[in-house]
Amino acid sequence: MTKPIIIDCDPGHDDAIAILLALAHPEQLEIKGITTVGGNQTLEKITNNALKILSFVGADIPVAKGAKGPLLGTLVTGEEAHGESGMDGPELPPSRFRAIEVGAVEFIRHLLLSSEEPITLVPIGPLTNIATLIRAYPELKSRIAGISMMGGGIAYGNVTRTAEFNIYVDPEAAQIVFESGIPITMSGLDVTDKAAIFDEEIATLKTRGPVSVMVGELLDFYSIYGKKMGYHGNALHDPCAIAWLLQPELFHSKMLDVTIETQGTYTRGMTVGDLRTKTEREPNVNVLLDVNRDAFIRLIYDALAILDARVQQSPQGDS
Ligand code: BDR
Ligand code: CA
Repeated sequence: MTKPIIIDCDPGHDDAIAILLALAHPEQLEIKGITTVGGNQTLEKITNNALKILSFVGADIPVAKGAKGPLLGTLVTGEEAHGESGMDGPELPPSRFRAIEVGAVEFIRHLLLSSEEPITLVPIGPLTNIATLIRAYPELKSRIAGISMMGGGIAYGNVTRTAEFNIYVDPEAAQIVFESGIPITMSGLDVTDKAAIFDEEIATLKTRGPVSVMVGELLDFYSIYGKKMGYHGNALHDPCAIAWLLQPELFHSKMLDVTIETQGTYTRGMTVGDLRTKTEREPNVNVLLDVNRDAFIRLIYDALAILDARVQQSPQGDS
């Protein structure tokens, strides 16, 4: 049975790969829509990136623009990692698709109300749109099957020592989502840093078909920042949130009580996990902690090969 999903994203190199991974598996995931949120770059830029990726593989999926910035304060972008466009690297042709007129929150509402079955939300950027939806339409929570999100890190952060980018950009939104009672699976840095692709694997991608080559070029750019930061390999953060929906058996996870710190001088934007055996609150988040990296990379390779074949078969057509 296919699972209906909505991807809320800020492409973003790894967001693009997450979208491609989902697109490769229509037998498992039906992407009802893609919504965008200011994060890695400005809303205009990242929406354009989403449309370019969809156009590259001929996938005419509705894209709705969401929040320009966080609920409070101004947007901090990820330009250092993702470049001036938010998805620097390959020269992608302009998109043949355009964003729809309806805004992200209203579009998600419409999809939730018109779907026969509850929809899984896959937020892989700051949680601003999802929090706005929950605040405006709390009655829609029952129509959300669950949330598979990328963000946070129980053990450590990346923007600061304690906060991961997606949560750091909008901690107030994250707090609303984490307190919502909706079942959440969190792909945080604990697992996503282990889901890393190495340079020789990127080189292999560049010997394959058009989609693999394009992703190889994306990763070439993305790895520049990783090397500067001394990372071991190039973490495929966002694809984990999709991979868990496709092959949950690749992951090891633990239910934890996770709260969002919105105040601390050193900890604003931290996902504070309670690791004690006896806790005051019931666990609210399924926290992914480990992944079978080799199988995960195979999943990515195979997905890109599926899309390579699709694009080669119908270079201009819709897939
Ligand atoms: C997250 O932040 C963004 O830069 C990536 O797209 C990912 O969603 C990783 O911290
Ligand atoms: Ca992202």
